[in-house]
Amino acid sequence: MGGFATAPLAVAVTRAGGLGYIGAVFDLDELSTQLTKASQALTRLDNGLLPIGVGLLPFVLSNPEAVMALLERFKPAAVWLFAAKELSDYAHWTQKIRSATPGSQVWIQLGSVTAALEVAEQCSPDVLCIQGIDAGGHGFEKGAGIISLLPEVADALAGAGHSGIQLVAAGGISDGRSAAAAFALGAQGVVMGTRFLSATETQVHPAYRQAVLAARDGGQTTTRAKLFDELRGPNIWPGAYDGRSLVTESFTDYAAGVGIEEIRRLHAEALSAKDGGFGEGGRGRATIWAGTGVGLVREEQQAGQIMEEVRAKVIEVLEKVRASL
Ligand SMILES: Cc1cc2nc3c(=O)[nH]c(=O)nc-3n(C[C@H](O)[C@H](O)[C@H](O)COP(=O)(O)O)c2cc1C
Repeated sequence: MGGFATAPLAVAVTRAGGLGYIGAVFDLDELSTQLTKASQALTRLDNGLLPIGVGLLPFVLSNPEAVMALLERFKPAAVWLFAAKELSDYAHWTQKIRSATPGSQVWIQLGSVTAALEVAEQCSPDVLCIQGIDAGGHGFEKGAGIISLLPEVADALAGAGHSGIQLVAAGGISDGRSAAAAFALGAQGVVMGTRFLSATETQVHPAYRQAVLAARDGGQTTTRAKLFDELRGPNIWPGAYDGRSLVTESFTDYAAGVGIEEIRRLHAEALSAKDGGFGEGGRGRATIWAGTGVGLVREEQQAGQIMEEVRAKVIEVLEKVRASL
């Protein structure tokens, strides 16, 4: 979660037995600062890798060489790629990462069977993150929920001789029940974004976090749209992407036919308010990226508590299901 997942969250998730990620956006100095903090907090693995991942958005990174220099210096255990302009760009990025930091895993987040097959063929990533349409934040305009997507991707990869690629599921997984379901679908791991917006270690405006904690019925109170990337000016995201946010006043205006220039003006005005534009009870104009699982995110917790709670529930649920068969 670029800008939200900084060193404190990544370190806490890793300490709790997961793989914490630092999400980068444009600012490589900031990424270097966060990686330095994580390096100071964590012991390196026996193979010299730093036990966290780094999330990159290739389409915004204009200086790949500078990114590679950072990866070579800090050697994160994993590098996550999402939102390349073209699927074929991933091969180029994978190659560069593997030569900068040979031990690091390459994780690529995709949202279709076709993309998974193409990227598996061209890049042989260590892990594919299969993102379904319930996911919060940016994702694919055309998609499916992981309940059908993940098993179809698994079958297609196995059929094409790529069963060595690990699959992790993303999108709508907010508690141990949905995590258990993802394991039942064939995932080897799960990604949680929205749930960690409640973590005390996540860098998020208090009004944003309050809106997430207050939201219920995520299928009604969140929506996918390209509008969220139009609010600060023309959309720079590649065409296949949109994003899921809480339904904000900006979206309500858009749905009612208000012109984009007026929506942008009101949005810019709202951002300078004390609540950051996130509004009371989430009725603001600023985007609040969150997935459909937001209704299950109910209290502020430490990341380690979230990890423990989810892990214990997965075991409980799977044992209960097994016993009932
Ligand atoms: C606030 C927020 C920011 C996100 N930012 C990124 C990002 O910078 N890069 C990325 O690959 N995915 C990003 N995502 C999407 C996640 O990778 C993941 O697919 C998603 O959170 C999973 O669905 P969930 O939110 O329902 O758990 C973001 C998600 C959220 C909620």
